[in-house]
Amino acid sequence: MKTVTHSSAVPQVLAKFLLVISLILALFSCGGSHKSRLVGVSQCANGIWRQTMNGEIRREATLHDNVEITVKVADDDPELQCRQIEELVDMGIDLLIVSPWSVDDISKTIDKVKAMGIPVVLVDRKANTSRYDAFVAGDNLEVGRLAGEYVHNIYKGEKIVEMQGNITAAPVQDRHNGFVQELEKYGLSCQSFNCNWERETCRAMVETLLLNTKDKYIIFCHNDGMVFDAVLEARKHHAEDRITFIGVDGICGEGIDMIDRGEMTATVRYPTGGKMAMQAAIKIMNGEKLEWRDTLIRPIVVDKGNATAMRAQDETILSINADNDRLGEKLSGVRHLLSITEMGLIACVVVVVLCVFLGIYLHRTNKKNKRLRLEAEKRLLQYLSEKMDTSRPPLTPPQGGEQSHPDGTPLPTVGESEGASVNFVLRLQEVLSANLHNPDITADDLAVELAMGRSQFYHRVKEETGYGPKELLRIARLKQAALLLETGGHTIQEVCYLVGFSTPSYFAKCFKEYHGLSPSEYVKR
Ligand code: FRU
Repeated sequence: MKTVTHSSAVPQVLAKFLLVISLILALFSCGGSHKSRLVGVSQCANGIWRQTMNGEIRREATLHDNVEITVKVADDDPELQCRQIEELVDMGIDLLIVSPWSVDDISKTIDKVKAMGIPVVLVDRKANTSRYDAFVAGDNLEVGRLAGEYVHNIYKGEKIVEMQGNITAAPVQDRHNGFVQELEKYGLSCQSFNCNWERETCRAMVETLLLNTKDKYIIFCHNDGMVFDAVLEARKHHAEDRITFIGVDGICGEGIDMIDRGEMTATVRYPTGGKMAMQAAIKIMNGEKLEWRDTLIRPIVVDKGNATAMRAQDETILSINADNDRLGEKLSGVRHLLSITEMGLIACVVVVVLCVFLGIYLHRTNKKNKRLRLEAEKRLLQYLSEKMDTSRPPLTPPQGGEQSHPDGTPLPTVGESEGASVNFVLRLQEVLSANLHNPDITADDLAVELAMGRSQFYHRVKEETGYGPKELLRIARLKQAALLLETGGHTIQEVCYLVGFSTPSYFAKCFKEYHGLSPSEYVKR
């Protein structure tokens, strides 16, 4: 029979316990927090319009779990932008949002990023590659067209001039085409200058115009930033009345303020697309399907007529955003609390599992100990019954000469000490049987009956049976009780008194402890 030793049972229980704990922890780590995702944002330039875009991207990111943003700004330097994109890749970004400086300069770098399996979302400016996952921008052709239409509406014979951004950038080409095509519709034309988005260049161009002629101008600048510097130049030449400025972007704090101050007549609000770009990024990272790959957002014209309404609307949005930011902060507090609660929960589950395992372990040990005790008792009773077997040879040591059964077979020799031991056990048995019914009998009484001193009696009983006299008396009572119950003819209560217990409840308790069943269960069995 394979015995499970105490020392091997503990590591087994421990191993099982550790296995369950790891499973629980794995379960919690899968269900609870998700892996954090890093989105790299590469901006080709700086300025208030781009900061607004970054704000939209950031705000949208906070609405999603575990999305982090890192922004790099290339300050109108395409080579720097390529290097920054590589740095972002080295940082381990999960997705790149990029607004490329020009159509060509950044395309190869974007291809490389895509080849590495990193999704790319183009925003505001397109690149000369089809290897991207989504493209979001304001409709620049429409920006140009709206500016052309506005010029036609206010036209009173002025000279029309276009101050362009960098002509290798997709929005500039579209704005130019839209503007020129719209003017052509009304038989108008314009003079175009490449200012490369540079305010100083634009300002210098305006200076040349003002110095060379006394003509009146409508100047369409490709962004409000260029208008700002051009206005300074016009003021310098006291030529504010000779120039009507139209810009692009229409951001509060820049273009809208210039309209309010009367420095610029109109601007075309060019949406940044930051929010939509981030929404697309999240869907792509989540492996969800995008309903679109390229999307263009409609621009609108802002002038004195709607600038106040626009500002009010922007301020409302800003205040909602501020509220949302505050809510976001609160939410992150709640998330923090949740994660602490989650950890607490894990700890509780671990403790519960630990208790269950400990319970199982103790129960098993208990059961095993009980079994061992019962086995020991069985052995004792076997020993007792062997010693009390009356068919055994005479209990007194042999007086000499070989003795034999009446049939002539020689009797086994009984040594002097064995004979004395058997005698003692027999007498003990007799005394026990005779006194079993007496609830008041004590170990001392038994010693007296056996004509022994108290301590001698105790040691002898212990030596012969392994039990103390009191314990032996109790076992004898319970054994006798079981025998009586098996034989039948007595109620449980009668048996209780017959074997010397004075209260049935105590009898039942001792009986259950010893036999593992209550007296009534024992009878049923
Ligand atoms: C900012 C900016 C905006 C403009 C946009 C076009 O860098 O020049 O003013 O509308 O880029 O891409």
